[in-house]
Amino acid sequence: MADLEQMMRTTFACRSFSDEPLPDHELAAILDVARFAPSGGNRQGWQVIVVRNAERKSTLIDLSVPAIELYVAQRAAGENPWNTVDPSTVDPATVSVSPAATAWYRDLAQAPVFLVVALDLRVVASADRNLNRIGVISGASVYPFAQNILLAARDRGWAGALTTFIAAAEPDVQALLHLPSHIAVAALIPLGRPQKVLTKLTRKPVSEFTHLETFDGPKLDASNPHP
Ligand SMILES: Cc1cc2nc3c(=O)[nH]c(=O)nc-3n(C[C@H](O)[C@H](O)[C@H](O)COP(=O)(O)O)c2cc1C
Repeated sequence: MADLEQMMRTTFACRSFSDEPLPDHELAAILDVARFAPSGGNRQGWQVIVVRNAERKSTLIDLSVPAIELYVAQRAAGENPWNTVDPSTVDPATVSVSPAATAWYRDLAQAPVFLVVALDLRVVASADRNLNRIGVISGASVYPFAQNILLAARDRGWAGALTTFIAAAEPDVQALLHLPSHIAVAALIPLGRPQKVLTKLTRKPVSEFTHLETFDGPKLDASNPHP
């Protein structure tokens, strides 16, 4: 269990990769572990497209750029990018961002492999489908699998990053990768050998986000002797 804890504490978002190829047998080993992720009703609706072709990777990056530009512009305006609660002051039609501001994302194309993680909407129980807010439940049947990919990769000395900007261009991605319309695009994970292994991740302490009994109740305090 100590190893598991160490993996969970150090599975970082990797954005720079060596040019070492990631062979199919390694990829298969990673996915063979990741597939033990939970999903609603154990329907396992995930599909994975392995993209190594340089031109296809580059197209995937290009397709993501408008979404990233909006993200960068919203950040610059002091907003929480892409949130559906607070109205944005940024007009997507007139967003203009310097290429330097999105270079970090374009650099992901150096990864030897892109995994496009997709989800079969025919099998996903979207329990919040009738609520008057953005859906979050469908993702719960695919993102544990995506995180498992990162954990399994880390365990074998590889690394990646979970990215989602690509989803904004879903119809184009579906056309590019020959995905039927009921297969949603959930994530793009660049994967490869990390140039540098990070081990100190920045995260909020438990006491900042854990509330006892109600949202306005006291925060969880590890030093509290009760109950
Ligand atoms: C939903 C989601 C979308 C993300 N999108 C991107 C992305 O487009 N590009 C990127 O480099 N990282 C992306 N990340 C990675 C986050 O930036 C990363 O998890 C966070 O900064 C923590 O990084 P660390 O684990 O290295 O500390 C995304 C993560 C999540 C969960």
